[in-house]
Parts: sequence; C-alpha cells; structure tokens
Amino acid sequence: MKVKTVNISEINENSVKTVNVGDKDISIFNVEGEFYAIDDMCSHAEASLAEGEVFDCKIECPLHGAEFDLKTGEAVTLPATRPVATYAISIEDETIYLEMEENA
Ligand code: FES
Repeated sequence: MKVKTVNISEINENSVKTVNVGDKDISIFNVEGEFYAIDDMCSHAEASLAEGEVFDCKIECPLHGAEFDLKTGEAVTLPATRPVATYAISIEDETIYLEMEENA
C-alpha cells in the first residue's frame, strides 16, 4: 500500500520530518538530497530517532547513542541490538510516498 506523505520541499537537505501513519510515527530523513524512511521509535527504549544526529547515513539515538543505518535500519552499535523498520520511498510530482504493509 502506498501512503502519501509530504511534499519534498517540506524536508530540507540534512533535516528530518516525522509523519504519522496509522499507529506508527515514521521519520523521513533527507541526507544530501536522498530520502530515507524509518520507524521513529528506537528499538532499544522509548526515544525519538528524529531527535538524534545523522552522520555517514546513520542516525544516532539521542538517548543512549545506538546508531542505526538509515538505508537498512540495522542497529550498528550497542546498546540497540534489534533493527528498526525501514520503508521504501517513491517520489511522484514532488510528493513522497511510503510503501507500507497492508495492515500497517
Ligand atoms: S533508546 Fe535508543 S539507544 Fe537507548
């Protein structure tokens, strides 16, 4: 299922926007013009990854510093051990769409 989100102009380069889809908060990062979408909630505890810092296409959790690969969602450093979900993005007419599971 394709879910319409925001216009690309709403997410400046090297910034992030969190959108709500169903019961999930999903953060869409613009890293040097490339967009990546991941679950906003850290897989370790309750923290918003949108509030962390991005470097080398990874997001560092603001609470305990675990890093996640924005492309794959993989937890690359402790204390997180589980990945966060990622979502495929498509852009049509400058609008960002997320590819979600049917039941999301
Ligand atoms: S809540 Fe993210 S590393 Fe602990």
